[in-house]
Amino acid sequence: MSKLIIIYGTGSHNTERMAVAIEEGARAEGVETVMKNVNDANKDELAHADAIAIGSPNYNNAMMPTVRKFLDDLRDIDLSGKVGLAFGSYGWGFEATQGINNILKSYGIEMIQDLCIKRMPGEEELELSRRVGSLLACKIKN
Ligand SMILES: Cc1cc2nc3c(=O)[nH]c(=O)nc-3n(C[C@H](O)[C@H](O)[C@H](O)COP(=O)(O)O)c2cc1C
Repeated sequence: MSKLIIIYGTGSHNTERMAVAIEEGARAEGVETVMKNVNDANKDELAHADAIAIGSPNYNNAMMPTVRKFLDDLRDIDLSGKVGLAFGSYGWGFEATQGINNILKSYGIEMIQDLCIKRMPGEEELELSRRVGSLLACKIKN
């Protein structure tokens, strides 16, 4: 079965809410999913995934340092050819998702459009997140 791994950092749960909705959308397409807070994540799991979604809120014009460290630690794993998504909640800028996108792209991952939601996602934004999860799943289903 195709597999999506979702790893996220969050300070006040907004990015976590997005992660949950992305997972719901992917599961509805019949894809296996694993979702973890970055503090509990193990980089070796990513080698066995077909798609990787990494999320971080924007804090001080950047992604969370824990997410940045996790991404940097991936450099010795072969991730080329996988499908990727950068996502996160923000207040006024997009540095976190842009940074995630750039790093994953540099590892040879085929990125889909970033998912950025302002502050706390409402029902409409959660539905959008589910749709993005479904899209990711459809790209890795055979
Ligand atoms: C201390 C602090 C710094 C922040 N810095 C930024 C920032 O530089 N750019 C931005 O777009 N939003 C900034 N925000 C807003 C957060 O990105 C926003 O509240 C987001 O929803 C937090 O997501 P989370 O609940 O997943 O942690 C900041 C919020 C706080 C509390």
